[in-house]
This record gives sequence, structure tokens and C-alpha cells, in this order.
Amino acid sequence: MKITILTLFPKMFEALNESLIGKAIAKGALDIDVVNFRDFSLDKHKRVDDYAFSGGAGLVLTPQPIYDAIQSVLTPDSYVVYMSPKGTPLTQAKVKQISTDIKHLVVICGHYEGLDERVIELCVDEQISVGDFVLTGGEIPAMALVDSVSRYIDGVLHNPESVEDESFSDNLLEYPQYTRPREFMGLKVPEVLLNGNHKAIEQWKQEQKLAETKKYRPDLLDKKD
Ligand SMILES: C[S@@+](CC[C@H](N)C(=O)[O-])C[C@H]1O[C@@H](n2cnc3c(N)ncnc32)[C@H](O)[C@@H]1O
Repeated sequence: MKITILTLFPKMFEALNESLIGKAIAKGALDIDVVNFRDFSLDKHKRVDDYAFSGGAGLVLTPQPIYDAIQSVLTPDSYVVYMSPKGTPLTQAKVKQISTDIKHLVVICGHYEGLDERVIELCVDEQISVGDFVLTGGEIPAMALVDSVSRYIDGVLHNPESVEDESFSDNLLEYPQYTRPREFMGLKVPEVLLNGNHKAIEQWKQEQKLAETKKYRPDLLDKKD
């Protein structure tokens, strides 16, 4: 998958060069381009914002630079996503669907009051939200989308099977994880994990998944089929 991010703040995406995503980029498993839509502004001062016709103090991103930046990166395989609090909530199912179906993901990061509505009408295939709260810009939501989608791409995770066994993969949360030492501050690792009985461990995992979901996210149990 190729990913193109359109933003006013490209430097924020230097964070993607860290950890597993950074390694995947370095070895060519992920192809991520970051484009500054200010570079497309035809304004002599490279301005990309203007007052809102509806009034108020906030600025709106002007359509021309964003429209031209999007047009410059489009291919027949592109799918254009605008990160927006009005969008479809980002879920693991949505992440998986994007990673499976999309060859070229174009991600637009808004700022200030957001995009002029006509750019959304003309260019955007889907708006995606990272939650019912408002951030200053779309860069952090875009990073959440890119990171979560990337985990499904071949060559990103050391063990690709781990995505199938994690929280939300079957509308349940993951079982608790333990590592050495066997006892820490008086708390012991559950005995069943130490005896090498794989059948018993598997049963423990299933029970714990249900227990964790009941405890932390009982709403997920209603969605489970
Ligand atoms: C201050 S917000 C604009 C909020 C907009 N005026 C509204 O009330 O819906 C600026 C930008 O941050 C991004 N953003 C903020 N909250 C977000 C969220 N929950 N999910 C995705 N993107 C978000 C969007 O790209 C948005 O254009």
C-alpha cells in the first residue's frame, strides 16, 4: 500500500520514522509520502486560510491549495480520506477494511475550522474520526490511522499473526499479558500459564477475553455475534 498524507505541518510526521513503522519504511515495506499543501497555494504570501463566511473568529482552509494538492497526488487507485470529527468512527474493522481494499490511501489533515465544504464534496471519499472530541489538527488522527492500517501490511510486524489475536479482532478485548519474573511485588503470574498445558492455556485465554471485555467494555458484548 502507498500512503500520501496532505498536511500544513509535515514535520509532525517525522515521528513515523520511529519504531516498527520507521523500520518498515526503511526496508521498503511501507511507502509514505508527506505533502505540504501550502506548496500549492497560488497566493503571493502562500496563505492557505481565510475568514469563515458564517462569521466567528475561526479560519477556514481555502479550497484552492487543498484541491490542487489532492489532484496532484491522485492515481486511479486512490481513496481519499479526510480526518474529521464528523467522520465514521475509526474501528479495528474499518482499519482492516482499508488495509485490505485500498491500494493508495490519501489522508487529508485539516486545521483551524477545517476544510471548505466544497473540497469535501469534490474530492473526499470518506471522512474518518478518531473519537468524539476535537483536536487542533488532523495530524494526530492521521498518524493513528496510518499506524493502525500499517500493522496489517506485510513486513511491518515481526509476527503478522499477532493482529488476529488482539483486542477487537472478534469484538473482545485481549487477555492479560505477563512476562518474567514469575512473581513481582508479591503478585504471581497465573499458574495455568506456567505449566505448559496448551489446551488449558487456550481455555484460560478465552475466559480472560470475556472477563476483560465484561469488566472494561461491556458494550462490545452486545456487538458480538
Ligand atoms: C479544530 S478541528 C475543526 C473542528 C470543526 N470545526 C468541527 O467543529 O467539526 C481542526 C481539524 O482537526 C482534525 N480533527 C479534530 N478532531 C478530530 C477527530 N476527532 N477525528 C479526526 N480529525 C479530527 C480535522 O482534520 C479538523 O479539520
